Amino acid sequence: MILTPTMTGIASPEPLQHAFKVKSAPHAGRGGSRPVFLEPEQWQQWWQQPSQATERALYIHIPFCRKRCTFCNFFENGTNPERISRYIKNLTEQLKIAADTPLAQSRPFNTVYVGGGTPTDISSDEVKQLGEAIQRFPLIDDAEVTLEGRLNGFDDDKWHNATANSFNRFSFGVQSFDTQVRQAAGRFDDKDFLLNRLQQLSQHPSGSIVIDLIFGLPGQTMDIWQQDLQAVIDSGVHGVDLYQLIGLSGTRIENAREKGKVLGTAASEFQADSQMRANMYASGANYFETQNWQRLSSCHWRCAPRERSVYNSLAKSGIEILPFGAGAGGSIHGHGCMNGRDLKKWHLAHDETLSLSNPLVRTAPIQVPGMLMSPNPSASLDAIFKRGLDSGELNLALLTKEMVVHLTPLFVEWQKNGLAILSQNALKLTLAGRFWNVNMQTGLFQYLAENPLNGELNGSEIQQPQGITS
Ligand SMILES: C[S@@+](CC[C@H](N)C(=O)[O-])C[C@H]1O[C@@H](n2cnc3c(N)ncnc32)[C@H](O)[C@@H]1O
Ligand code: SF4
Repeated sequence: MILTPTMTGIASPEPLQHAFKVKSAPHAGRGGSRPVFLEPEQWQQWWQQPSQATERALYIHIPFCRKRCTFCNFFENGTNPERISRYIKNLTEQLKIAADTPLAQSRPFNTVYVGGGTPTDISSDEVKQLGEAIQRFPLIDDAEVTLEGRLNGFDDDKWHNATANSFNRFSFGVQSFDTQVRQAAGRFDDKDFLLNRLQQLSQHPSGSIVIDLIFGLPGQTMDIWQQDLQAVIDSGVHGVDLYQLIGLSGTRIENAREKGKVLGTAASEFQADSQMRANMYASGANYFETQNWQRLSSCHWRCAPRERSVYNSLAKSGIEILPFGAGAGGSIHGHGCMNGRDLKKWHLAHDETLSLSNPLVRTAPIQVPGMLMSPNPSASLDAIFKRGLDSGELNLALLTKEMVVHLTPLFVEWQKNGLAILSQNALKLTLAGRFWNVNMQTGLFQYLAENPLNGELNGSEIQQPQGITS
């Protein structure tokens, strides 16, 4: 049996701070799929076939931002009203065609996520157009429909058009409330503006308002972090995500770090190391739990049942996600897909296809440039691991007995290293385990790759729809 410290972590009296060196990546995953090529006729056929999924989602990508923040590498295209308006026109046209297909109409959607970039940067009228296009799809009665973005520029007009046109969940990136830390990170607005606006929006009778905070930003000391946590409560929001800063390559923070510099505030060049970030996570988790907030995943808490985080939790379960827009990712008929980010190529595909005289092109959305993968043979098993470890509890009854026995040496090491507690029916992560859960997911996939279990892939095969060439 091969067991390495990257799988198990290391023994330490302080596992929260030292079980692993650094968070391995934003998300874990494993291969097993290969790129496939789909002929245009096969693409058309896909949209004529009913869905096999029990739960599913739409993901719509809006790849524009007004400013490049120092920590983030999601920036794709600068905001420019004409550019956005052309994009929304083509996007809504594709959504309308897609909504009428047998694939879209065959089962209702549980959730819709409009993410970015900064979707709240589109105009008020475009919010309305997008909401109307979404409503052409069959949605379950209490479908969660999220609009992501930021508070800056999200005026009353946009808010009213959004709530009147199906959006019922708003995820705003705050990152830190501290005015100086925000400025250093390239954010607009100060703490007072954010608190006032969030207090106003959170008064809505049913909509869910959630915010993202990052811990580990330059200039963000433990004191400032604790003020950030207090501000979450003061803002009246219904949910919060606490993300550890990941050193993403190409970001200004990472470029500075490579030169030994910190892009701190006028008051402080402090930047938390991995151990301090672990302490920040612990203080956030303890803080919300002592305020009776409920933990929905390792990094997400809520104080009101209206906040459900349906998209995020279903997306980790590997459900069907129909992707729209340049840079959108999803999964159709079990095939992972990623639309290319290049806006020019995306528009070209749209314009060329719609100029064809063939009426068939109206029976499926445009096949935009991008990447399609063969079905991941272990998709349903991987989803059990990802969702379980992310939620803080892996239900062993969902696995075969053989798989539990096979994984027990790894689980025992995690227990010895203070990351989990193993019982007959469940593997429960400790606070340290929840902090390191992405490393544990990566470690588990690595363990299965190094120690394959015969038949591991059985029982999780996905039926391949007709007309696919590999
Ligand atoms: C796609 S971004 C959209 C945010 C939105 N445009 C805004 O301006 O706040 C979603 C979230 O990813 C998180 N994020 C971005 N870069 C990160 C990093 N380097 N480490 C951790 N979280 C990060 C931020 O919390 C952000 O709110
Ligand atoms: S945090 Fe938001 S606005 Fe800033 S670069 Fe990332 S996606 Fe764009």
